[in-house]
Amino acid sequence: MPVDIVVGAQWGDEGKGKITDYLAADADIVCRFQGGNNAGHTIIVDDTTYKFHLIPSGILSGKLCALGNGVVIDPKVMIQEIQGLAAADIDDSNLRISPNAHLVMPYHIALDHAQEDARSASDNIGTTRRGIGPCYADKASRIGVRLQDALNAETLRKRVVAALQPKLHLLGGQADQPELQVDHIVESYLGYAECLAKYMDDVSRLIWDACDNDQLVLCEGAQGALLDLDHGMYPFVTSSNCIASAACAGAGVNPRQVRKIYGVAKAYPTRVDTVGPFPSKFGDSPMNDLLVERGHEFGTTTGRKRRCGWLDAVALRHAVRLNGITDLVLTKLDVMYDIDPLKVATSYQTTSGEVINHYPYQAAELAGVAPLFHEMPGFSGDISVAREYSDLPQEARGFIEFIEQAAGAPITLIGVGQSRDQIIPL
Ligand code: GDP
Ligand code: IMO
Ligand code: MG
Repeated sequence: MPVDIVVGAQWGDEGKGKITDYLAADADIVCRFQGGNNAGHTIIVDDTTYKFHLIPSGILSGKLCALGNGVVIDPKVMIQEIQGLAAADIDDSNLRISPNAHLVMPYHIALDHAQEDARSASDNIGTTRRGIGPCYADKASRIGVRLQDALNAETLRKRVVAALQPKLHLLGGQADQPELQVDHIVESYLGYAECLAKYMDDVSRLIWDACDNDQLVLCEGAQGALLDLDHGMYPFVTSSNCIASAACAGAGVNPRQVRKIYGVAKAYPTRVDTVGPFPSKFGDSPMNDLLVERGHEFGTTTGRKRRCGWLDAVALRHAVRLNGITDLVLTKLDVMYDIDPLKVATSYQTTSGEVINHYPYQAAELAGVAPLFHEMPGFSGDISVAREYSDLPQEARGFIEFIEQAAGAPITLIGVGQSRDQIIPL
């Protein structure tokens, strides 16, 4: 059996966690392949709310849950999440971690803060300040610390010294903090690694064996296509590739085993930063406030208020093509009641007046585009009780069918509420 992949098709927080939890019912292994605890997934089952940052969203279904080599792990946060599982009576024996996954170190977090603070308001990336960018930078510079490196005191010390030395001048006065001293780091990380050692496993081999044994592997992406390091609008992006093909590098998935690619999109996209390009945003307006309130649009990781906008079919088409999305998942349709008309951005007008149908690759061009909207009648009433497509008002169905045409992929799941059962399969 194959590998299916769940990815975000917008700027993150599309509801990937909820959809992964739903799809995990049929899977044997659920595997994260990139990102770290910059991700935040909220899952609601039977009135209980779970929040995960590192642990794959399949854990509630009792499935084997793995963190692939492409994930960056803050071990302190990981251990806290594992302790949270125990407190919620969830079995942690299903957890597996690749020994090749890199660890987020205290100096990565300090550097993330220092770099963000040094940026002006207009070029602030608005990172989650979890040290994710500096950790991936060290990985690429080959001065990172993998989980397996932290098991041996001598190796760990050597790695920490090599990584910390070139950062001292960037950290300035902060470098004197007790938690940034080599001895302190070595001692605490040896302890973390000891705690996590029992979960270490060859995740790629687990995936290949599962496929050989006709089992289903579900790979869970974090962030979203438009935050992808290469394909998002650099530098307002995250520091890893978060498109479906990243599952191959980040978990060792053989590309020939990939079957379905679920692209999760909200009925209205959101961005959690303040300045990154977002053509169809509402801006400061009653409409933005309405959706923030109805959709509880505050980040799971940072608590920041998310910016909202009309569904952008130009950006979504871009995500469909980049990821090879076979199944679009439209979440939060229930939030869009009593909004008339409903709008979908279908093309952009550039500053020179040209109308374009593609997502521009130049930041300057994207920053200047004005979206052109298709309008359609809104729907009224509470659709959160709908469980079949035919339960939805005609106007809601019209909105869905327009989006699938405009985005170029079929919508096969519709979210109508936060709970696991508030979903309509098509
Ligand atoms: P993720 O990072 O993509 O997993 O998404 P988050 O969990 O950060 O944010 C999505 C939020 O929307 C969470 O609070 C979910 O509980 C909620 N959510 C997901 N799907 C739906 C839906 O169909 N309707 C509503 N109302 N909320 C949803
Ligand atoms: P999930 O998985 C939304 C954003 C940050 C910032 C940029 C870079 O919950 O969808 P980083 O800390 O990664 O260096 O920040 O990326 N960002 C997210 N936005 N959802 C996320 O994850 C995000 N992870 C990072 O806000 O703009
Ligand atoms: Mg999130």
